[in-house]
Amino acid sequence: MNEEVKRLLNEQINKELYSSYLYLSMADYYDYNNLDGFANWFYIQAQEEVDHAMLLRRYLLNNGEAIELEAIAKPDLVFNSFKDPLVGAYEHELFVTASINNIYEKAASVKDYRTMQFLDWFIQEQMEEEKNTDELIRKYELYAEESKGLYQLNQEFGARVYAPPTLVLD
Ligand code: FEO
Repeated sequence: MNEEVKRLLNEQINKELYSSYLYLSMADYYDYNNLDGFANWFYIQAQEEVDHAMLLRRYLLNNGEAIELEAIAKPDLVFNSFKDPLVGAYEHELFVTASINNIYEKAASVKDYRTMQFLDWFIQEQMEEEKNTDELIRKYELYAEESKGLYQLNQEFGARVYAPPTLVLD
């Protein structure tokens, strides 16, 4: 595998694990403030990010490459309102999309068609991630400014269930 493609994929493992840590900090914030439904949504999101990291790990290993795990940074977003984590999540997903696109671009430049095909799933997934987090903001703005709406939105987010990734690597 091209050294730079390998380095970027390895680095992406860290970014996905950081994403998990960031979303866990959001779940913690909501749980602490008794919004268990919002917390549930982010707790599941944190689990999905670990799945993304594991797919990257498996892909590198399946290609005979060694993994080098780095330290995971402290999630340092400060939340001053219930809306803040929602905006933070959307902005973070834009960052992840740019990161995936960057790996794709590098893979394309060295004709690494296999990695491009592997990343197709992540590119599709990032559309979902952006859409989902944008929806959180829109729903919050529509319904949650009043306590009754906040209560109902909390129930809706509480109904989210974990689903394993549709991409499976042996
Ligand atoms: Fe792994 Fe939310 O992107």
